[in-house]
Amino acid sequence: MEVKFIDLQRENKRFKEKIKELFSEIIDKSAFVGGKFVEEFEKNFAEYIGVNHCISVNSGTDALILSIAGLLLNEGSSRKKIITTPFTFFATAEAILRAGGEVVFCDIDERDLNLNPDKVEEIIDDETCGIIPVHIFGMPADMDKIGEIAKKYNLWVVEDACQSHGAKFKDKKTGSIGDAGVFSFYPTKNLNGMGDGGAITTNNTKLAETLILLKNHGQVERYRHEFIGFNSRLDGIQAAILNEKLKYLDEYNNHRIEMAKIYDRELKGVGDIRLPETFPDRKGVFHLYTIRTRYRDELKEFLNKNGVQCGIYYPIPLFKQTPFNGAFASTQEFPITEKVVKEVISLPLHNEIKKEEVEFVSHLIREFFKGK
Ligand SMILES: Cc1ncc(COP(=O)(O)O)c(C=O)c1O
Repeated sequence: MEVKFIDLQRENKRFKEKIKELFSEIIDKSAFVGGKFVEEFEKNFAEYIGVNHCISVNSGTDALILSIAGLLLNEGSSRKKIITTPFTFFATAEAILRAGGEVVFCDIDERDLNLNPDKVEEIIDDETCGIIPVHIFGMPADMDKIGEIAKKYNLWVVEDACQSHGAKFKDKKTGSIGDAGVFSFYPTKNLNGMGDGGAITTNNTKLAETLILLKNHGQVERYRHEFIGFNSRLDGIQAAILNEKLKYLDEYNNHRIEMAKIYDRELKGVGDIRLPETFPDRKGVFHLYTIRTRYRDELKEFLNKNGVQCGIYYPIPLFKQTPFNGAFASTQEFPITEKVVKEVISLPLHNEIKKEEVEFVSHLIREFFKGK
């Protein structure tokens, strides 16, 4: 049996006919940039996340850059240091630099692989203005502790929710807890388009107003520009697709959770595997199902040889990437991140994965560990 890491053809079969109809309507209405579908999606997504404003943009990366730029602009102070995790996709930290901030990395928590709030406080100084927790692999970070620290030191919080559409911390969806939440709709995400797309969610009306200007060249009225902005707009085609797929997001997330439970059951106690942890007050949505083992590289080779695709997210901590060399507080060490990047391996899990596929992958992993 061949098992793909992600299978977009299988998912998109379900939407193909409906999307063809929507395409036809978009062409007839010339609703290519802005327009009905974009407005509808912003309204629906804000409602789904539980916030007052959703500002759609061109990608998750742009959502990060714009939200940071908007907060820096509104704050207008000289504070520029932004604390984030080194165990994330490059874009999280790249966006800080692009938006004019300074990156300060903080080590992660071994249990949820997210920013460790107990370590965050150690590296805050007078120049710190914000924290960007990333809900990595769809598991929410400890937003109570992060919120308390932010309040104590007067910092803003941008949640990188690019992997956590629909996840919850207590009774709140990720993206509705901090000052802003940022989302990616890249084709591999739990909620995905057929191209690039992103959004910022917020309850901060002033920030929302700034972002609407920022995404459109800082234009306050036709051909009058207040500041340097961006051209970052979600197109009508992506918005129409996302509107349609949003109806199925909970169903897909629940499916991912069910499939993750099968992996949990089948792999518990096998070899030295460390399963992803669950928390009673958090609903993770398993953007990725990531286990840890010291036999990671061997296991990957074994699975690939047997027709199973898997991924390593992330093999290199961001503080070792060239643009961030030296971009962390000198007092901090990253023992957990250094260890985790050598052990993580993500198994196939996607919106349309079948139970038999998960069982087959689990069976292979058990076979692999018999020889250990
Ligand atoms: C955690 C995280 N942040 C940011 C991004 C950037 O999103 P995009 O690829 O839509 O620019 C991604 C996704 O690729 C991501 O996983």
